[in-house]
Amino acid sequence: MIYYPSDDIIANANVKEYENTYQESIADIQKFWAKQAESLEWFKKWDKVLDDSNHPYYKWFINGKINIIHNAIDRHLTTEKRNKLAYIWEGEPGDIRYFSYYELNKEVSSFGNILKAMGVRKGDIVTIYMPQIPELIFAMLACAKIGAAHSVVYAGFSSTALADRIADAESKLLITADGGYRRGKVVDLKGIADEAMQKSPTIERCIVVQRTGHDINMEAERDFWYHDLKALPIADGPCKTEVMDSEDMLFILYTSGTTGRPKGVKHTHGGYALYTSFVHKTVFDIKDTDRWWCLADPGWITGHSFIVYAPLINGTTTILYEGAPNYPYPNRVWKMVEKYGVNILYTSPTAIRGLMRFGDSWVNRHDLSTLRLLGTVGEPINPAAWEWYYRCVGKERCPIMDTWWQTETGGFMISPYPITPLKPGSATKPLFGIEADVVDEKGNPVPPGEEGILVIKKPWPGMARTIYKDDERYKREYWSAYEKQKWYRAGDSARKDEDGYFWIIARIDDVIKVSGYRLGTAEVESALVSHPAVAEAAVIALPHDVKGNAIHAYCILTEGANPSPALEKEIKEHVRHEMGPIAVPEQIEFVTTLPKTRSGKIMRRVLKAKALGQDPGDLSTIET
Ligand code: WTA
Repeated sequence: MIYYPSDDIIANANVKEYENTYQESIADIQKFWAKQAESLEWFKKWDKVLDDSNHPYYKWFINGKINIIHNAIDRHLTTEKRNKLAYIWEGEPGDIRYFSYYELNKEVSSFGNILKAMGVRKGDIVTIYMPQIPELIFAMLACAKIGAAHSVVYAGFSSTALADRIADAESKLLITADGGYRRGKVVDLKGIADEAMQKSPTIERCIVVQRTGHDINMEAERDFWYHDLKALPIADGPCKTEVMDSEDMLFILYTSGTTGRPKGVKHTHGGYALYTSFVHKTVFDIKDTDRWWCLADPGWITGHSFIVYAPLINGTTTILYEGAPNYPYPNRVWKMVEKYGVNILYTSPTAIRGLMRFGDSWVNRHDLSTLRLLGTVGEPINPAAWEWYYRCVGKERCPIMDTWWQTETGGFMISPYPITPLKPGSATKPLFGIEADVVDEKGNPVPPGEEGILVIKKPWPGMARTIYKDDERYKREYWSAYEKQKWYRAGDSARKDEDGYFWIIARIDDVIKVSGYRLGTAEVESALVSHPAVAEAAVIALPHDVKGNAIHAYCILTEGANPSPALEKEIKEHVRHEMGPIAVPEQIEFVTTLPKTRSGKIMRRVLKAKALGQDPGDLSTIET
């Protein structure tokens, strides 16, 4: 079944034509991106669009001077956008705050002044561990404004995960909050941050935003209330937007890869600003009157790019919501769409499946007629969830933008535009400037309909520049598989059909997607084996109705430890403490051996095949 957009959508779309523009864009990517870059304001124009002399360490907009904040905030202040709402924020308990671009600038400037007064300098990395409140966004933007980089750690991560990330970034300053609300409960973020700071010798100061007002520990000379700092003269007055090089670091964001260590994906002021704002405006057809709601957490790349930077650069009004999408009732999202007149809604297949479970009546209670476009991200969307989203939420009027991309790509890579005919479950075609393909291990194209490896054949401005402090790992993880061809290997398998539509299948490395969250099997395994009763562990992903995938763990116990439901519970609790709730296995199976290759590598595919009752395939390399 193919779903065609209405004449109305086509007539009003920002992108009116695909094929010719696409061919033109990839025939000369430098020309294409040079033209798009004119939509940004540069302090000084670049000399050259792309420096590809040191593959795979590409540089974009060479010698250009820019600051993403000048484009996201400052330049709007002299236009009619000054009084437009930048954010409408709703807390889980129902409290509401609005910020115009003018007010956003005030908030970011005073946060920037505070950071400078606390000793933050250009080039420093500030770690941020916050609930989904406006101050999280102000903190990120303030870092960028003064030329510091941010490293946001998702507030669902544990103290150990936070401490690891602080250590890698060598942060001297942590910004956190007393707590946040989730499903009506207070999450004690400061308690977790305290534990992490105890393990973090680099930390000198901590700024604490008051959200919940519950009792917390404040350590003298280290911890400062944000509202106290904001009341001091140091916070007052304008704050200069630093002049940055296009290639200067904007942020690092830790994500999971094939080994246990977190990897800090690095993005920049120039190329990232251009790429995220361009794809947002074209794919989601952003109009000046739109209200845009992206339901991600700002702590992940979807939030960084599409709650924070791209919408602001495009001068959009963005909705930010603090809590769970089905709290206190399953109509929370639909109620908010109606209340705020949302035009474009962007969420994940997991959230869609989760809301679908409650049935149509919760949706139908609300007037959703303002919706024009829908979007999804994070994992392949199953056709049943797609159809429900299309029919029940979009009333068969709103095309669904199934956007395939990654932390490393900065923005969408394969996705429909509103004019694209849709096939449920397919992310459709590569966006302008992106040359994608499905190939075999040697790099030969695979025939239509067959599974292969997804590659990107040309660089793009939003690409990650490296893994922080680990250039070698960057090269190895993404560029070594197709070194000769100089192609980027994304880590996903896919197939391309006769019409050139891409169908993303799954990760082909040791990364698993649980509810759209990205986790490494190695990280979960190392959390498991850090429990004294666990000698060895292996983790696989098995299909799950709502989560997409769920984690199943196999553990070999140490001498003297005995399998029991109580022990299973204890180990799960341990993983929650070590990594956070998202990493807790659905099920733990106690075993006495694990299938391994002769070189000692755990054969997860054998475990998975057995669990699914499938043929485990070639076992010739298994250790006997
Ligand atoms: C998966 C999230 C199918 C994919 C933005 C990718 C998807 C990984 C889609 C990146 C989609 C993301 N269809 N799979 N539309 N979008 N993925 O870094 O496996 O958290 O490699 O970035 O999510 O996850 P990450």
